[in-house]
Amino acid sequence: MCGIIGYLGPRPAAAVVINGLRRLEYRGYDSAGLAILREGRILVQRAIGKLSNLEAKLQAEPDLLTASHTVGIGHTRWATHGGVTEHNAHPHLNDAGSVAVIHNGIVENFVELKAALEGEGVRFRSETDTEVIPHLVDLFMKDGMSFERAAFAAIGRLRGSNAVVMMCAEAPDTLIAARLGNAGGIVIGLGEGEHFVASDVPGILEYTRRVIFLDDGEVAVVRLDGLDVRRLDGTPVEKRAHIIPWDPVSAEKGEYRHFMQKEIFEQARAITDTLRGRVNFQTGAVHLEQLALDEANRPARIHTVACGSSFHAGLVGRFYIERIARVPVEVDYGSEYRYRDPLIAPDTVVLGITQSGETADTLAAMSAGRERGAPAWAIVNAVGAQAERLASGVIHMRAGPEIGVCSTKTFLTSIVDQYLLACALAQSAHTAEDEQSYALARALAHLPGLVSRMLDDDPIYQELANRFHNREHFLFLGRGVNYPIALEGALKLKEISYIHAEGYPAGEMKHGPIALIDEKMPVVCVAVRDNVYEKMISQIEQVKARGGTVIAVATEGDDFIRGKADYVIEVPPAEALLTPVLTAIPMQRLAYEMAVRLGCDVDQPRNLAKSVTVE
Ligand code: G6P
Repeated sequence: MCGIIGYLGPRPAAAVVINGLRRLEYRGYDSAGLAILREGRILVQRAIGKLSNLEAKLQAEPDLLTASHTVGIGHTRWATHGGVTEHNAHPHLNDAGSVAVIHNGIVENFVELKAALEGEGVRFRSETDTEVIPHLVDLFMKDGMSFERAAFAAIGRLRGSNAVVMMCAEAPDTLIAARLGNAGGIVIGLGEGEHFVASDVPGILEYTRRVIFLDDGEVAVVRLDGLDVRRLDGTPVEKRAHIIPWDPVSAEKGEYRHFMQKEIFEQARAITDTLRGRVNFQTGAVHLEQLALDEANRPARIHTVACGSSFHAGLVGRFYIERIARVPVEVDYGSEYRYRDPLIAPDTVVLGITQSGETADTLAAMSAGRERGAPAWAIVNAVGAQAERLASGVIHMRAGPEIGVCSTKTFLTSIVDQYLLACALAQSAHTAEDEQSYALARALAHLPGLVSRMLDDDPIYQELANRFHNREHFLFLGRGVNYPIALEGALKLKEISYIHAEGYPAGEMKHGPIALIDEKMPVVCVAVRDNVYEKMISQIEQVKARGGTVIAVATEGDDFIRGKADYVIEVPPAEALLTPVLTAIPMQRLAYEMAVRLGCDVDQPRNLAKSVTVE
């Protein structure tokens, strides 16, 4: 979870940057660095490990932390491309050292950009995707562009979901900050004759409470005497300043009304974080740092145990592990597993999925497996939680704190983590068939960008919530890898809006739920273009034939489904196995909007708890 800080003003920039980075320390990182403009030259320091290592280096330059240097940027890194080394730590610079860049996200097209830059004779010093950015700016400046124009041109070349901040020795009174997609937020703090840039509000709250939040596709040109926000094509944008209240909980909520809303919008970033350092996007090789996998300890079968949304994530993961790694998977509710006296054959691993790591039933199921001789693995969000202590292998979700009771970003990250697990398992088998796992892992580079598109403003959610929030019942249908998403859609709606909802495998509708369908029953159908698309269309026809209202979650540009369904929520085209990560988002957004209309307590729904430690 990278942290970003920038400062422009009369204070000692290095001190403001270090202070801001410390405020963001809770997000975790593996290295840190800063760039300060001093006497017309950019001075850079980087260190791996704790922030104190970077500070120790700065002590060697005694005036640096106290002198006024006007402009500085700093970054805490959590590796995505390239290992944890000083070279890979940010900021990254062009050859002449005159442009410094910090970045959060994944530059999806960095392989092409890097090859093109190398063709122009550029030498790369790091293995990061970030380094393409200062070189691109440099190239445009050599063509005669100003720093500002070159920055816009370079940012325009980046694909994917990214937050970028840069400075240039030739423009000592300018900082440029951009947000593309939703993988990384950018907040700009407005001071008197000074400005602050950060990835999160707590990084700058000590200095100012007046902030603006950049939206997708916006670039801020921050100068000592003012601030100018434009879209990438140069169109000016009027931004509204928010006043952040002092209490730390509200500060954490930033621009959002509820934690659930914030956590939904953090999902592109959460996915970027869960992929960090685990996938080589050039080769597709997957490495899980706390799960040793080789032929000797590769399981012959997996028993997944989980509760609530984590159970639904496990159902999606079964498709991944069976399809990609060809390892058979059974999925049980944590509360049921031990009561069926599970048969544990040799080489079985019990996989607990739990965001809190403390759900009593999941822990009991993991223990039941261990008592019968199966090692336990865990996919957890809360580092150090009980589930992790029971497990011999762990995958951390890295979703960051999830405060809203209903799982959103932990649901998506636990799905992505199972996809990584499936690829890692396939790759550990070293067979010819496992070639496909490398291509499937490379497809993950696009995922934060695709998720980000699902988070764009879309009036459909308001429209649906206005129209349907007073309905008493909803039906959710899905098939194949998206069947668990229908279950999750129904659970989300029940949990926070208290509307009765059922999730069903679409093919089973004719064996019961079809009797319930009438004009009062909205039916949400997940019908993306995949191998069960035609079957889903015939379910939609059956619902329509009985007077039901169909809300379809369908692939962008699918005009055929528009002719059938009453409403369509669009999902960008993606690798079929990854579509649940996208189709889950409309479920969350719909439930959220409904609950808000109904005046429900979104973050703390009645009778529910974030972590259920009783059986
Ligand atoms: C509670 C929460 C759900 C969550 C479930 C399992 O019911 O309200 O959102 O999915 O517990 O939690 P876990 O921490 O094990 O993933």
